[in-house]
Amino acid sequence: MTEEGNRPGLAVIIVGTDPASQVYVRNKCKDCEEIGVYSEEYALPAETSQDELCSLIDRLNDDSKISGILVQLPLPKHLDEKAVINKINPTKDVDAFHPSNVGKIMIGDYDFLPCTPAGVMELIAKSGTQVEGKKCVVVGRSNIVGKPQAMLLLHKNGTVTICHSRTKDLAQECREADILVAAVGKAKLITGDMVKPGATVIDVGMNRDENGKLCGDVDFESVKNVAGAITPVPGGVGPMTRAILMKNTVHAAEIN
Ligand code: GUN
Repeated sequence: MTEEGNRPGLAVIIVGTDPASQVYVRNKCKDCEEIGVYSEEYALPAETSQDELCSLIDRLNDDSKISGILVQLPLPKHLDEKAVINKINPTKDVDAFHPSNVGKIMIGDYDFLPCTPAGVMELIAKSGTQVEGKKCVVVGRSNIVGKPQAMLLLHKNGTVTICHSRTKDLAQECREADILVAAVGKAKLITGDMVKPGATVIDVGMNRDENGKLCGDVDFESVKNVAGAITPVPGGVGPMTRAILMKNTVHAAEIN
């Protein structure tokens, strides 16, 4: 694509100094460099105004070197996240967060899939697990992971349950899952007694345990002997999310 004058380019915007977000953004730019994608990083101060951020997005929407635009979330509280996402040209929305892209995913007619749910689907497929006809339980209902994850499993003909903080008996729901995706952000919430023997368990969580060590939503030590397949944290879903972002950026260059 570079030789043909269509080198993919990614603009990554981070507002403020959240350490986890800084690591994510650094990794995304490193990935670009590794595969020959042009990248621009915008590290903006926490006090950046809505107008300043939106003007930058306007400029990037019109910049032919930039095929994908990613605004790292969460944004500082004074900024209107929805309005910011709405500003991104949907054909450059490599996160697939714009309402137009979310709607397209719902009807199964999309340009981009959201990076983490698409990465989870890839992990499930590569583990040899068939989704069709399986009981799939997604724990968490965020717009970034839980909701789109449920939709992607449904597209593959899984029978999908979404669990959340008001679910009556989370353990019982989880025990019925052939495929269990944990995306709530609660350290080690899912324990071995909540998992069906042989189930495929995907851990999207990124938390700190009581000793400050990185851990997922799944208690890996107690679940690993029950599950048929399981992803670790770190080193499971995270690298897949990054790989899908690169795939989406290349695709964005194709359609822009
Ligand atoms: N914050 C946590 N996950 C994500 C993601 O996939 N994309 C963006 N832009 N921000 C995030």
